[in-house]
Amino acid sequence: MFFPLLRRLAFTLDPETAHRLSITALKLLQAGQRQPAPALTHPLLDQNIWGIRFPNPVGLAAGYDKNAELPLVWSRLGFGFAELGTLTAHLQPGNPRPRIFRLPRQGALINRLGFNNAGADAAAARLAPRLSTPRPVPLGFNLGKSRTTPIEAAADDYCRSCAAVFPFADYLVVNVSSPNTPELRTLQEPDRLARLLDTLLARIRELAHAANMAPTPLLVKIAPDLTDSQITEITRLARDVGVAGMIATNTTVARPGLGADSYEAGGLSGRPLAARATEVVRLVHRVSEGALPIVGVGGIFSAEDAYERIRAGASLIQIYTGLVYEGPFLARRIVRGLIRILEREGVSRLPQAVGSGA
Ligand code: FNR
Repeated sequence: MFFPLLRRLAFTLDPETAHRLSITALKLLQAGQRQPAPALTHPLLDQNIWGIRFPNPVGLAAGYDKNAELPLVWSRLGFGFAELGTLTAHLQPGNPRPRIFRLPRQGALINRLGFNNAGADAAAARLAPRLSTPRPVPLGFNLGKSRTTPIEAAADDYCRSCAAVFPFADYLVVNVSSPNTPELRTLQEPDRLARLLDTLLARIRELAHAANMAPTPLLVKIAPDLTDSQITEITRLARDVGVAGMIATNTTVARPGLGADSYEAGGLSGRPLAARATEVVRLVHRVSEGALPIVGVGGIFSAEDAYERIRAGASLIQIYTGLVYEGPFLARRIVRGLIRILEREGVSRLPQAVGSGA
């Protein structure tokens, strides 16, 4: 009821200011809770993936909580997991403002933030005291390359951030798909990707060995702008080297269905991304023969959208732009809607639906 009004007010502000305000409000909510809210779950939706329990499949996408300031608030909004970051080894301001743009008629955003963040060490220092208590939902950490680090030294940069957040991460993501860091996406080229993944996986094994635990699952987040044959190659490579799963997709530099107008530079997210992001999920699912769990993200605004992504092959889904247009209760609404859909379809557990329409 009150969200349309709140959105009207928020949309009078510059998008980045509105985002900062939402972070401040969530910080107050987080500080005011005596303990984190228990996770929203249901027997139909509860899954164990990579040895991690996901109480429901609806996650927060990377980029909302870039500095990992809000590790304990997401269960209160109904999320089943949250991905924090992108964090880089060095603190960096990102691109000049304005750098986030709304396309309200299309239900879309364009951003060219450029990994603005306080650095992985600062995030880790802030997290250490907070995460001594048990957490209600799994936390992933999304890692990027610092802008000042040459592309040849990318692996060191990722390894540094990886070591910083390792103690807090249920899963880790190597982000090679943001369009806003020069050359970053060239790390999706098979030779470069193979070397980067080998180095990171070895580092994770070392860190896990020192901590006397099993290696943390590493996921790769890919761009929707790759060709189908590139996606096929990356999926095979990921499987071969021991990557745990894929996140499909990041924002697009294409402007699908947006007509001939000129648009701001940057990555497009939201509704216009949904069709391609779904195709990419379907392709990865097919190529990996369902062996690489997929996190589906891009233009999910409803339970129906989420279910379609699951049927294409996603075991988990994430939202970002949908939150901006549909409001803070979207995760809860999708969870409730998914329960209704699974009951209606006679599916007794979510994994049965994964890839059923691939
Ligand atoms: C993002 N996204 C993103 N992804 C990532 O891996 N690291 C990041 O730092 C960011 N930052 C970011 C900022 C903003 C303002 C937006 C809108 C998006 C991409 C995001 O995680 C997701 O992959 C896409 O936005 C597609 O999902 P939605 O937004 O269509 O639900």
